[in-house]
Amino acid sequence: MRVVVLPDQQAVAERGARIVASLVRSKPNCVLGLATGSTPLGVYRELIRMHAEEDLDFSLVTTFNLDEYVGLGPGHPQSYRYFMQSNFFDHVNVQPGRTHVPDGRALDFEAYCESYERRIADAGGIDLQLLGIGADGHIAFNEPGSSLGSRTRLKTLTKETVDDNARFFDNPDEVPRLAVTMGVGTILESKRCLLLAIGDHKARAIRSMVEGPVTSQITASALQLHRDVTVVVDESAASWLERREYYDEVERAQSLIESGQPRALGIQQPEE
Ligand code: F6R
Repeated sequence: MRVVVLPDQQAVAERGARIVASLVRSKPNCVLGLATGSTPLGVYRELIRMHAEEDLDFSLVTTFNLDEYVGLGPGHPQSYRYFMQSNFFDHVNVQPGRTHVPDGRALDFEAYCESYERRIADAGGIDLQLLGIGADGHIAFNEPGSSLGSRTRLKTLTKETVDDNARFFDNPDEVPRLAVTMGVGTILESKRCLLLAIGDHKARAIRSMVEGPVTSQITASALQLHRDVTVVVDESAASWLERREYYDEVERAQSLIESGQPRALGIQQPEE
């Protein structure tokens, strides 16, 4: 895992957006895996700005979202389809037919989830999966205890998640108890993962994910098994990391190599 610690939320959003934008520029027909929640909002804002001011073109991009609440239609303000439309899709030139958010109202969920997986595969797989992390270490809606090999499926939400969501609904009976979510196994098949975290309420989860054992109790820890994961966090979310100095050192070296200054690290070119 490459762990990048930045000063604040804005810096995290800008770095996240830069990583997404550079993929979109180098591979205009790339497949992006997208997330909802408060964490990626700054990235979407920055990508919208790049689209408006720097001609960042999404016309050939395909997207797959991680999850959706069961029972909520696309017009429900708490649905993840609604979130994606209002916070991102409606403001860039992505083709509506190329955006995929799981359908929370499918009649046959087993068949539907299989078809979601098939559509990802038919699109060539996910090039870059954007992720947030729950305070309990979940990715997508893979709550603690989810199989690390899981695929897209129906998932029962924990009481904590249901209670936490209750504030967004007028009627407690409306609060979803189930979600359709990509599995941990689905996420691990993405070619690259970019996980973002902001705030000290994520510090414990970030430490467990990066430095703890791989366990289904912290589903994000499965990312340790993936060969191309970048974790971008602000100072608060990094505050529990024990090997922080090492991550900064790796980052410094990586930046020098990427900016064409290998000699600063004592690396000589063959002809030198
Ligand atoms: C959202 C998702 C969730 C969130 C996580 C963090 O599509 O899959 O796993 O990424 O719950 O949420 P925020 O960003 O609101 O703290």
